[in-house]
Amino acid sequence: MTAPILRRLSELRALTTKWRRNGETIGVVPTMGALHQGHLSLVEAAKAGTDRVIVTIFVNPKQFNNPEDLAKYPRTEHEDAQKLAPYGVDVIYVPEPEQIYPQGFATNVSVTGLTDVMEGEFRPGHFDGVATVVAKLFLQTQADRAYFGEKDYQQLMIVRRMARDLDIPIEVIGCPTVREPSGLAMSSRNLRLSPDGLAIAANKHRIMQGIAQSLKAGTTFDTLAAKAETDLLAAGFTQVEYVQLRCAETLEPLIHASRPARLFAAAWADGVRLIDNIPV
Ligand code: PAF
Repeated sequence: MTAPILRRLSELRALTTKWRRNGETIGVVPTMGALHQGHLSLVEAAKAGTDRVIVTIFVNPKQFNNPEDLAKYPRTEHEDAQKLAPYGVDVIYVPEPEQIYPQGFATNVSVTGLTDVMEGEFRPGHFDGVATVVAKLFLQTQADRAYFGEKDYQQLMIVRRMARDLDIPIEVIGCPTVREPSGLAMSSRNLRLSPDGLAIAANKHRIMQGIAQSLKAGTTFDTLAAKAETDLLAAGFTQVEYVQLRCAETLEPLIHASRPARLFAAAWADGVRLIDNIPV
């Protein structure tokens, strides 16, 4: 059976207030829809970790720095509800736009520092949009735990910092990236790749793993960065925005994988911008 779809905050609040009164814990999985196995793994984690699970679907205009990207973002509500049916989520919250951004909405949530690099550098304003909508979804759902994929690792760190800084009483839980058998990180954007584009995109994980191996063997990142870019272009990517090694906790740039680190990459294939990261 598909879960009820709620579109208004008042309806959602009526339920969450009842659940909280009964002492039930609430988990939220914030999404923009076009659900794939990566999202469903978050739903599984939420089901295992909390009594009640809310999946939110909201294509957030404020986090798109490129209007074309927003226009092309897949909207598949019916299919999403079908995909969620076997998981027994309690509610799918698909807020009407004015439930998130009512007339005269004038607040911006901006996390400094962590947002200056990588996605923040290449997508100006993106993380303000993310932090603002996620703060609203946390407060609207009154959830105890929120589940995010490590595929968007920088987003995960920013959301965690935002919740901590604003004293929003929620635990932000990161879950491992789910990959296709080819190694390609699952992403709603993969839907826009042609078969050739998919084949090109699958090379990114292999190339990143090669770099991670060299780092583990003691090679410094400064000697590997240029090779990573060359290898991605040779594999068919049309543009490489960044390949960076950063501390897994603070996102500071690193030369050696001397402490828990992550290797991040953003590159374009087949007209689609694809990001990925792996632990080193
Ligand atoms: O990762 C996403 O899908 C979005 O950035 C999120 C967290 C749902 C906020 O719109």
